[in-house]
Amino acid sequence: MQLPQGMILEQFEVGPMSNFLYFLGDQKSKEIAVVDPAWDAEYILNKAKDKGYKIIAIFVTHDHADHVNAVDDLQSKCNVPIYISKSESSFLGSQHKNVKCLDDGAIIAIGSIEFEFIHTPGHTPGSQCIKHENILITGDTLFIDGCGRCDLYGGDANQMYNTLYKKLLKLDDSTIIFSGHEYGSRRYDSLGEQKKSNIYLTCKSKEEFLRNRMGMAY
Ligand SMILES: [Fe+2]
Repeated sequence: MQLPQGMILEQFEVGPMSNFLYFLGDQKSKEIAVVDPAWDAEYILNKAKDKGYKIIAIFVTHDHADHVNAVDDLQSKCNVPIYISKSESSFLGSQHKNVKCLDDGAIIAIGSIEFEFIHTPGHTPGSQCIKHENILITGDTLFIDGCGRCDLYGGDANQMYNTLYKKLLKLDDSTIIFSGHEYGSRRYDSLGEQKKSNIYLTCKSKEEFLRNRMGMAY
């Protein structure tokens, strides 16, 4: 897979729930955002240091503990802004510092690389995906051959249907999906391939989607 020019994208598997966290950034300035810092802030800091990267932001796809339980620890050492959807009220009601709320379509630059935040409710009310050119970080909205649960607190399978069918499936088939967990047979895949193999993307109707989604574990 060819990365967009000048972009840093690195994927790390962390914790007991096979979470993926990511470094996103600018090769030229070596500045990065850490996406979903969880489980081990020291590990994240050491990885960034080894590579000569400077952490300048934290991006949060959604407020579930397995994605954010190292946010405060990391921020206490880096003192950088935390970017989260303005709809993720569970996070915003907590005591985190330096939180920046994002609207659907917000753009945040890391160095000269711009990232678009797409509001994708369904797994949680304020889930968001992060896009740069054909790279899409999906958190727990879309997995390789799966999609996020909608039966947890704040989940909504109707919203998930709209997110997948009215937003993400409108993206180009060349879009590469990088999800929030290592649940699939691959660590990433194209949207075009997922349109063929992911049962949550091949439903003929909303009713079929709701039956699939609410009858399965993930
Ligand atoms: Fe989650």
